[in-house]
Amino acid sequence: MAPKRSSTRGAHRNRKTGRNPSDDKLAPGDTGAARTGSPSDASELFEDTYSHLFGTRWQGLRDALEAPGRRHLLSFEGYPTYVLDPASVFAARLVGAISDHAVDLCAAPGGKTLVLTTMLAPTATLTANERSSRRRARLRHVLETHLPPEVRARVRVSGHDARRWGVHRPAASEAVLVDVPCSAERHLLNRPSELARWSPRRGGRLARDQYAMLRAALQAAKPGGRVVYATCALNPTENDGVIRRAIERGAERFTVLTGTRAGLSGGDDAGSKTSDSRGRSSRGHSSSRHKPEGESFPIESARSGEEEGVRSGTSLPQSAAQEVEAHAGELDLAVEHCDYGVQIMPDQSSGAGPLYAAVLRIHE
Ligand SMILES: C[S@@+](CC[C@H](N)C(=O)[O-])C[C@H]1O[C@@H](n2cnc3c(N)ncnc32)[C@H](O)[C@@H]1O
Repeated sequence: MAPKRSSTRGAHRNRKTGRNPSDDKLAPGDTGAARTGSPSDASELFEDTYSHLFGTRWQGLRDALEAPGRRHLLSFEGYPTYVLDPASVFAARLVGAISDHAVDLCAAPGGKTLVLTTMLAPTATLTANERSSRRRARLRHVLETHLPPEVRARVRVSGHDARRWGVHRPAASEAVLVDVPCSAERHLLNRPSELARWSPRRGGRLARDQYAMLRAALQAAKPGGRVVYATCALNPTENDGVIRRAIERGAERFTVLTGTRAGLSGGDDAGSKTSDSRGRSSRGHSSSRHKPEGESFPIESARSGEEEGVRSGTSLPQSAAQEVEAHAGELDLAVEHCDYGVQIMPDQSSGAGPLYAAVLRIHE
């Protein structure tokens, strides 16, 4: 399901095709897979599909997606600066403080891995996994050039298939970040040659692998541990749709901590408990947009995970909802609540995102 919002669907006429999407309604959960077209009209199909999904919001959202994104600067003292989207920082911080061991299942090029290293307790370790050897080489380079040796020494790089991770290392990590490959519509809109190959079936195909990776992440986390599922997709099939599948299939036992349906459980009591719906959206309180956006980590404090500047989850309010708001506030991001996760959208967050993140806690 797309994030809750007040716009009226179907009133927007596609600016490229001139067609009104309400003439050709989609069923819930359908992103246009039933319609077909030649490769040459892939971009028109893309326009139709997303204007169906977002209604009157699409034009402004599309403009925000085509504009340059927001930049967050991250560096360890004396080391080069890494530039990433503040929404990516937000997603990684949802993992919380790491006291023992965490896994970043889909890590390259490594921006979120760098953020995770700032959340490691003094003896904690991190595994950064990436299946592609080419991208794994890039990940290693990012880690070698941006991390002090004593921090780098606590990050292991591996090259496994994330979909099988949980089978080989079940219940071994206190936290797992699974930042899955996704439709990446922002990337597509800015690369016409890739947009020309887009298909309405793409989201559904990706969602199968995304579900397999989420399931592996749920298996890999210890009882009481946390899984953060993240995408940069707009397509709800790849966002709430994947979490919904995990709840419905009930293979693992977990509680959803984010979204309007936070409190819902997957697993042996799947669907048994729902919480009241929370507000639709809220904006963080920080004024950091008017300051240079970035942070520099003194090496000592990055190692200890305790000094000012290191975003340790231990100093945050207990409730997941408050945690989400606190992280968003620090980064001046507007949070939109979906059913099971939260979204940061560039038309609401001054160019940051898109980013979807759902936080799940494994049952004890
Ligand atoms: C969205 S990107 C991750 C971005 C990264 N977390 C960051 O913040 O820099 C997804 C990554 O997953 C990798 N990937 C795709 N399929 C995979 C699989 N089956 N196992 C492990 N990694 C995979 C891709 O090569 C890609 O580098």
